[in-house]
Amino acid sequence: MEHFLNIPVFKVITDIVEETGQPAFVIGGFVRDCLLNRPTKDIDVVVLGNGIELAKAVGKKMGNRPVNVFKNFGTAMVSLPDYEVEFVGARKESYRSNSRKPIVENGTLEDDQNRRDFTINALAISLNKESWGKLIDPFEGQNDLAKKILRTPLDPDITYSDDPLRMMRAIRFATQLSFKIEKKSLAAINRNAERIKIISQERVIDEFNKILLAPIPSVGLELLENTGLLKIIFPELQTLKGVEIKKGKAHKDNFLHTLQVVDNLAEKSSKLWLRWAALMHDIAKPPTKRFDDSTGWTFHGHEFLGSKMVPGIFRRLKLPMNQPMKYVQKLVLLHLRPIVLSQEDVTDSAVRRLLFDAGDDIDDLMMLCEADITSKNEEKVKRFLNNFQLVRQKLVEIEEKDAVRNFQPPVSGELIMETFGIGPGSEVGIIKNCIKEAILDGIIHNNFDEAYKLMLAKGKELGLKKTTE
Ligand code: CTP
Repeated sequence: MEHFLNIPVFKVITDIVEETGQPAFVIGGFVRDCLLNRPTKDIDVVVLGNGIELAKAVGKKMGNRPVNVFKNFGTAMVSLPDYEVEFVGARKESYRSNSRKPIVENGTLEDDQNRRDFTINALAISLNKESWGKLIDPFEGQNDLAKKILRTPLDPDITYSDDPLRMMRAIRFATQLSFKIEKKSLAAINRNAERIKIISQERVIDEFNKILLAPIPSVGLELLENTGLLKIIFPELQTLKGVEIKKGKAHKDNFLHTLQVVDNLAEKSSKLWLRWAALMHDIAKPPTKRFDDSTGWTFHGHEFLGSKMVPGIFRRLKLPMNQPMKYVQKLVLLHLRPIVLSQEDVTDSAVRRLLFDAGDDIDDLMMLCEADITSKNEEKVKRFLNNFQLVRQKLVEIEEKDAVRNFQPPVSGELIMETFGIGPGSEVGIIKNCIKEAILDGIIHNNFDEAYKLMLAKGKELGLKKTTE
């Protein structure tokens, strides 16, 4: 394992350990990721002694690097140019049933390894001279890495109940690394799912986002559903699941459809918020579901209601309420527009309106719509994709001609007021809106001269008189 230790900080730690006599080990994610050949910037070091003091000594010897001390946790972090190294004293922990804040005592390396979440995260490498580079693997973690299995060092009921966030972590690692969660462990997650409620929403959503950012997010989303975690942390998504049949007519399972849309999109883009838009595009299908004898199942207005649901869900999940929320809301609202466009004769005016409404997010919206095609009928898929190609072409042509993507009114409110000698009032809005609508409908082009002429005509219609020459 010595080749993993080819980083100057390890040599420095070994020298300090020689002086203090407090043995240290690199442990956890760093060891796991090295063995998996995954690049990593975080190093965790556990010391049989005082973690904060070791961190300070290392910081000093590495050229007076900044040391961040977290006194309450007994940990300290040294920031190096390429790595963040966190130091902690070996612990033995016991937990109370209503909190994930442990009662901590000093412990041996074995105690410390026992209290970790997964066998693959409990691997340690010695930084002590006599055993330098030796892998200490009490739970056959290396074997689990090779077999791609997530297993807890202790009875999973204890590991998950001690720190319920680990249930999310299990699913996150399974999704990120394409590992399987051991059967016994999955059953324990099922049993302990309710305990996720004692974890702060910020930490839960952090893991959820990592699942969403994985190469095939549906793996984790399905695990969340199967284990009973989804209905607790994101009930609206859970409600999408299931198929109802009436008079021989079935609608599709909107949960499975959504998962496929997210996966399709994940192949094209790693933007977190675009993946969120995919996850939420049909969120209002259950509350808008209707059955009609002639038309069968419909979900009229699910894009409107869905966009209305976005802020409440974002707030509850503690997701950012500013730009990301507005972006997701907009894409949910607009997600049917390109489809409608591609089904009709694509008129310039409809394309202009879509460009105006989507603005700079038009490319993301098109990507979402293409990902939304989940039909099994290849002919249909081909036809839809072709139609979208036409819409894309039209979008480029119209944008070149009319530049409405980031629409700025060619005639300002000030000019309107000056021209007719009026103050702010409803007439200004009426004239501006009339100009905007005329441009979007293609009655005039998006330029000053044509807009000015229309302003004069509309003003006259409103009984206004031009006061300037
Ligand atoms: N750990 C744990 N239980 C948790 C969180 C962390 O047992 N709820 C332990 C694991 O041994 C883990 C180590 O602390 O390897 C470091 O945790 P962290 O940095 O959060 O995760 P990593 O495993 O390093 O993985 P990643 O960086 O992908 O989050």
